[in-house]
Amino acid sequence: MKVGIVGAGMVGSAAGSALALRGGASEVVFVDRNAALAQAQAEDISHAVPFAHPCRLSAGEYDALEGAEVVILAAGVAQKPGESRLSLLSRNADVFASVIGGVRAAAPGAMLLVASNPVDIMTQVALRASGLPPERVIGSGTILDTARFRSLLGAHLGIAPQSVHAYVLGEHGDSEVLAWSSARAGTEPVARFGAQIGAPITEEVRATIDAGVRRAAYRIIEGKGATWYGIGAGLARIVQAIRDDQGAVLSVSVVAPEIEGVPDIALSLPRVVGRKGVSATLMPEMSETETAALRASAEVLKESTQGLW
Ligand code: 2OP
Repeated sequence: MKVGIVGAGMVGSAAGSALALRGGASEVVFVDRNAALAQAQAEDISHAVPFAHPCRLSAGEYDALEGAEVVILAAGVAQKPGESRLSLLSRNADVFASVIGGVRAAAPGAMLLVASNPVDIMTQVALRASGLPPERVIGSGTILDTARFRSLLGAHLGIAPQSVHAYVLGEHGDSEVLAWSSARAGTEPVARFGAQIGAPITEEVRATIDAGVRRAAYRIIEGKGATWYGIGAGLARIVQAIRDDQGAVLSVSVVAPEIEGVPDIALSLPRVVGRKGVSATLMPEMSETETAALRASAEVLKESTQGLW
């Protein structure tokens, strides 16, 4: 599968590197308004290929995207320390206005995978600008927050994060919702599992994990200026689900007519991802508090789009 990546900064290049290392694509093409950066990223990643899987890396103008089946949109500005994702909206919406036309002209059959923040709203921007059906415009959403949740739960319970089935719902941002009610360790509710192995999930543990997930990006940005490895791996995971028609259940963001009474927004829920994009959306079992928090998250996103169109 040929994958295009628009935006060769840290996130775009981490996605390209993860794709090459995991064998997620046979060809990766970078496009960036800084052509030298795109070329350098392609060349650098190509030097990892002899240690990994066959994959051709290159860089070019939009026309180089011809034949791409998925195009990752990672262009735009990133947060500065202390800045929220939502504060990037007007700047990145302007960037997308020019990017989407170039991508669609070169690769009209490509699915769009949106990574730029605020990712839920940028997914809506990409949907409107592209004219594609919603199931083919996928935001990375909370795939990363879900990974953070699983890592911290796995560490607390002493099990592999791959054996934790838990999702973060809603906005990829400050209002996101950790779905504790449906979280499982293997087949067991996490609270029961924790109690059985002497690692109870107390209120304090929940609060620590919640903050660990919700504040992760802020901490990492304080320390190294941006986040890229986690999201790069998450983007590669989504591409593989599409390429292999896996029907993988991933927490990603797509535009829905209505969620919890809030119309026309994109946010993350567990969704079935395969060759056609998103084929189904699951609504997990939630407590009243979680349902209210999901509605509030949907409202935050709705409010943020006021005045955008
Ligand atoms: C992250 O959560 C900044 O959205 C990015 O790592």
